[in-house]
Amino acid sequence: MCDTEELFDTTNRLGFFGWLRSGRDAMRKKMTVIKEIIRKPGDYDLVVLGTPDWGGMPSPAIRTYITQNLNALKSVAFFCTHGGSNADRVFAELENICDRKAVALLNVKTKDVNKGFFADKIKQFVEKIK
Ligand SMILES: Cc1cc2nc3c(=O)[nH]c(=O)nc-3n(C[C@H](O)[C@H](O)[C@H](O)COP(=O)(O)O)c2cc1C
Repeated sequence: MCDTEELFDTTNRLGFFGWLRSGRDAMRKKMTVIKEIIRKPGDYDLVVLGTPDWGGMPSPAIRTYITQNLNALKSVAFFCTHGGSNADRVFAELENICDRKAVALLNVKTKDVNKGFFADKIKQFVEKIK
């Protein structure tokens, strides 16, 4: 078990124009306004940061979270959900924003999540962050 924190982006990302805005914002490395977080990242030895792949970039919400909490973060690990890209660019950018290497990486394709085909990957990821 672990504590979790869901990030809420206050930008309207609904519909076709929301989709366009989201891809553009991510690729331009834009920040956004996220709702106030509950947990203090500084209370944890390791924070696992997750994001969807939007145009080869992390989402504005996770970019904002990391930037606002950079000094509190100790070790980090990343997971990325995507439609088929390999997520390498997303991970490179996350390491760039965090200014440190991740202890473990996990990328999962949406289709595999829906089919439940990712248990082994998660097992390997968990072994690394233990
Ligand atoms: C604006 C936008 C851009 C996306 N760009 C990519 C992409 O470049 N490569 C990719 O594999 N998937 C891409 N996707 C698919 C998402 O990564 C995938 O739907 C997401 O990880 C699923 O997680 P979610 O249910 O939290 O949205 C994109 C999705 C959106 C909405």
